Amino acid sequence: MQPLKLGLVGCGDIAGYTALLSKLVPRVRLVACCDINRQRAEQFARRFRIPMVFTDYDQLLSQSNLDAVYLAVPHHLHAPMVKKAVAAGKHVWVEKPLTRTYPEGIDLYSTVQDNGVKVGVNYQYRYDPGCFRLAQAIQQGYLGDVFHVRINVPWSRQETYFSGAAWHASFEQSGGGTLLTQGSHFLDVAMWALQQRPISTEGITRQVKFKDVEVEDQALGLVTFEKGTTLQIHSTMSAAVEGAVSIEFYGEKGTAHYSNRPFPNVRFLGVKPHAFRLPRFGVHALQRSLIGFCDWVINDISYLTPIDQALPVLAVVDSIYQSALSEKKVKISDLTF
Ligand SMILES: NC(=O)c1ccc[n+]([C@@H]2O[C@H](COP(=O)([O-])OP(=O)(O)OC[C@H]3O[C@@H](n4cnc5c(N)ncnc54)[C@H](O)[C@@H]3O)[C@@H](O)[C@H]2O)c1
Repeated sequence: MQPLKLGLVGCGDIAGYTALLSKLVPRVRLVACCDINRQRAEQFARRFRIPMVFTDYDQLLSQSNLDAVYLAVPHHLHAPMVKKAVAAGKHVWVEKPLTRTYPEGIDLYSTVQDNGVKVGVNYQYRYDPGCFRLAQAIQQGYLGDVFHVRINVPWSRQETYFSGAAWHASFEQSGGGTLLTQGSHFLDVAMWALQQRPISTEGITRQVKFKDVEVEDQALGLVTFEKGTTLQIHSTMSAAVEGAVSIEFYGEKGTAHYSNRPFPNVRFLGVKPHAFRLPRFGVHALQRSLIGFCDWVINDISYLTPIDQALPVLAVVDSIYQSALSEKKVKISDLTF
């Protein structure tokens, strides 16, 4: 089996982890990397022994004989870069979130679908053993009807988060703060588990610690789903001490409680522990997600987050932002996924 020839775009924070973990994935070979910052691109290529280096994305697409690109760039570049890759006949693995907003995501989806290439979005927590087990249990009705879900993301970021990557602070470039960038991982998992259409949201966003940026560092959302299930999410990047992420599902037969600490795990209360098998092996969710994408492209084995699967979470995040702005409950009436 020939490994997938992958070009990595954006040699920043997450790309370093992905490049490191890619060394454990024989199905993939990083053959090129690209960053507008030449020094960063060259250092990255040396560190991970990547043979071709580019500072121009168009040149990477036209000159490097790739099968696929991995886009780890600021959010405002996701849509234009995905479109260019698809037009060049390359498969795409793009970092979450798919785009800054739901309308931007829908526009991208309608442009790239049915083009003969695969577009996957790296919501890697679907490959986290605890999140996967939780989602399987809920999808299989293990708790019976779920009446409530509670998500808490008490993360902590320092000033360097904004000073080191100015796009994080720009609403135009990022599309949002902690809810879109961090909380959406776990909102995605919970909605994937629930498999219900969201119908309305109420939200509050605040700037608790970082007051001179354009995005929120704390967000609260309340989502109502078609069968009456409610979901509350609290996401922050301003916890004084970073805590465990939790996702709790309350069902008619029992409760399931996910925590990512000290390692990803799920506790079941009122029902027996749910048996499960992870769809991919690996040391980390990000590695398993990469394997999943490669298997999808090479062997047509389904990937957990193809592009259309990354749209529902965007619709809900958008709607929570709208509610926070208008201080009103917002109905989600025109979902097209
Ligand atoms: N899956 C995860 O757990 C996870 C974690 C962190 C970040 N992310 C996502 O990864 C993406 C990147 O985030 P990051 O934290 O690594 O950002 P970053 O700022 O650390 O890195 C982005 C890189 O893109 C480069 N870049 C900017 N414009 C470019 C262009 N036109 N062509 C080529 N390179 C360009 C920048 O120079 C920078 O090196 C975002 O979508 C983010 O939400 C995902």
